[in-house]
Amino acid sequence: MNIAIDGPAGAGKSTIAKLVAKELGFIYVDTGAMYRAIALYFINNKVDIADMEQVETALSAIKIEIKYRDGKQQVILNDENVTGRLREEAVGNMASKSSAISVVREKLLSLQRDLAVANNVVMDGRDIGTNILPSAELKIYLTASSAVRAKRRYDELVAAGKSADLSQIEADIITRDEQDMSRKTAPLKQAEDAVYLDSSAMDIDTVTGTIIGYARERI
Ligand code: DC
Repeated sequence: MNIAIDGPAGAGKSTIAKLVAKELGFIYVDTGAMYRAIALYFINNKVDIADMEQVETALSAIKIEIKYRDGKQQVILNDENVTGRLREEAVGNMASKSSAISVVREKLLSLQRDLAVANNVVMDGRDIGTNILPSAELKIYLTASSAVRAKRRYDELVAAGKSADLSQIEADIITRDEQDMSRKTAPLKQAEDAVYLDSSAMDIDTVTGTIIGYARERI
């Protein structure tokens, strides 16, 4: 069984998807981390993503593998575990830009589909229900207002002892939404058969319980 969870940045997809996967005994596949690993390579190697020749050369030098350690997804970029370096804002911003390039998306398509063929998965991303797993048994479109998503990210950073600027975070989120929704290849949008969930006024347990309820109806 495959569960696809799509939605904008900061909607809580990864938190919820991990809990749903744990409860159902499925594996959690974080596709954003794969785009982030490619973005990290582009940053480290100063690839100009406006230059398709540079992008194609870089992609041919990139090998991405997914492994699981204690149930947690690890992203291996050219034999190096880069999982701990993927969550930085600069990597996320580059991933939002570079994921609009169709050859970047093609590079990850079979990796994502193969994981879903071999396992029961909860996979989160932007185009999982619309493009990667169009026959997923359950599709969720998880969103929240940009103000709520910014506040959640702000609280996360403050809790981690980092400085944060709420209005800057919200501005970045709005830019990311525009980039992810307006790109030509596989833009973020709700699949026709996806369940729409707005988590602005819902807590984590309620959202998780709602999705598990839908999943159990389909198992
Ligand atoms: O979910 P995330 O923030 O880790 O994703 C980082 C970027 O990668 C996001 O801005 C858009 C892109 N992405 C994508 O285009 N398709 C996916 N399936 C997952 C992420």
